[in-house]
Amino acid sequence: MDNNELITELQERLELVSTKYARSFLQTVDMLVEVVTVFDRYHENSHVAFVGEKSAAVARALMLSDREVFEIETAGYLHDIGKFSLPPQFLSQLSSELNSFDFKHYASHVETGHRILSMHEGMLSIANIVSQHHERYDGMGFPSKKREHDIHIGARIIAVTNFYHNIMYKMRGSRHEAYSTPPPQMQQEAITVKHAQTMTLVNKRAGSMFDPKIVAAFNAVMENERRQFAGKSFMRVMINQLKPGMRLAEDLRTSFGLLIASQGDLITDSTIPKLIRFAENKEISMKILVVI
Ligand SMILES: [Fe+2]
Ligand SMILES: [Fe+2]
Repeated sequence: MDNNELITELQERLELVSTKYARSFLQTVDMLVEVVTVFDRYHENSHVAFVGEKSAAVARALMLSDREVFEIETAGYLHDIGKFSLPPQFLSQLSSELNSFDFKHYASHVETGHRILSMHEGMLSIANIVSQHHERYDGMGFPSKKREHDIHIGARIIAVTNFYHNIMYKMRGSRHEAYSTPPPQMQQEAITVKHAQTMTLVNKRAGSMFDPKIVAAFNAVMENERRQFAGKSFMRVMINQLKPGMRLAEDLRTSFGLLIASQGDLITDSTIPKLIRFAENKEISMKILVVI
């Protein structure tokens, strides 16, 4: 074997090892996301998906690199993984409603999440973002009272998307409420009003709780979405129940992050079998968020 052949063989082996490592890493991420998603279903339902997806959209609007977008999206999905350590009553309350003893207990979910994710050396940067998602731009957050640009940009983004979703959808009071969400079309008007009120609260906190640059990007992302989907209803449908004419309400990516279809794409007769194939290969979820 001459030198050139040896180099080619080594390159091929290296590629194989790094592909296997990347696949294994992404499977670990998927596994953790699945765990927190199952847990979320019994509490706030759409919280994990919203914080992950919207944080990625804001990161993209800010022109961050693909790697940063991936890390921020993953940190968004996993930001509250440390809440597994909390008693159930904390999960249905806003942190501002807790007394100081309970708050201390609640605040520990940040360090717990950091500790869990730091166990994988490939997830250190994601753990770092998660550890800062309750810091505030004015330095009044927890656990480290970091301020402004000392806070990781991913954590500054998640702070906004997390706040928005908690105010919009956090289920409080009766446990039954959490299991009996009315159909989306019935809620539409109430959602529009609540959205406007929540955006006012977000905007009021620009410069104190949140980075104004992130708030501006979040406004742009939400406005863009509103324009695209005004007056429509969203629903998650099984992949084999997709119908031509529906529109995707989310980006669809493979486990390697490859974009298969974008939010807003029209579902057609020819796209349905392709999406079914991706789902059967476990590259995308069997349930897809669509707008009808
Ligand atoms: Fe949290
Ligand atoms: Fe959260």
